[in-house]
Amino acid sequence: MSGARTPYPARGGTSYWEAAWQQGRRYRPLDTAETEALRGHLGTGRGRPALDIGCGEGALTALLDRLGYRAVGIDCAPTAVTDARARHPAADIRLFDFDADDAARLPHPAFAVITCRLVYRWAADKPAFLSGVRRLLAPGGVFWVVTSVHDPAQEPARSWDAEASDVELLTSGWSKAQVHALGPSLRCYALRP
Ligand SMILES: C[S@@+](CC[C@H](N)C(=O)[O-])C[C@H]1O[C@@H](n2cnc3c(N)ncnc32)[C@H](O)[C@@H]1O
Repeated sequence: MSGARTPYPARGGTSYWEAAWQQGRRYRPLDTAETEALRGHLGTGRGRPALDIGCGEGALTALLDRLGYRAVGIDCAPTAVTDARARHPAADIRLFDFDADDAARLPHPAFAVITCRLVYRWAADKPAFLSGVRRLLAPGGVFWVVTSVHDPAQEPARSWDAEASDVELLTSGWSKAQVHALGPSLRCYALRP
């Protein structure tokens, strides 16, 4: 059912992502429906810190700033960081590998919101990735994940679709797990510890 998967380094994907950005690969832009879903689930920031893991060109980081969060966007690919800073000069964008770098280097010890858009599917060690997120979520915080999933009406699964088992892992063990479908194969998850 899952079909061929894109080869991905077992640990640490910086070279993979940097090459993709340098080759000009770009990703699905935020649209109104997704922006409204995020706003509805997360609410306004009121100056609270937010972390956007794998921020790419920084559109979601900038959206969080506009919603009143003190957002930090992190990405492991230098070209993405350069692009994000150029597109959103006021945003706090940092070169940071969430899998490898020390979370103590982040500007806040905890975040009211952590977002992860089109990134979770690619995390090499998903349990470690999720543990890292849980350690950084403030009490009452929300983990917002956007990911492609396999639409059973469409065969085969695409390489960028999260596996059903990975979605199960993602959504397990939270006090509240809400799902918002943006289409047959795009999901948002609002996860609360
Ligand atoms: C498919 S792109 C999505 C970019 C952006 N979130 C968006 O929605 O347009 C995945 C991004 O995650 C970044 N990334 C992947 N693994 C990462 C990690 N361990 N730490 C930081 N960034 C990571 C990649 O460099 C890439 O920019």
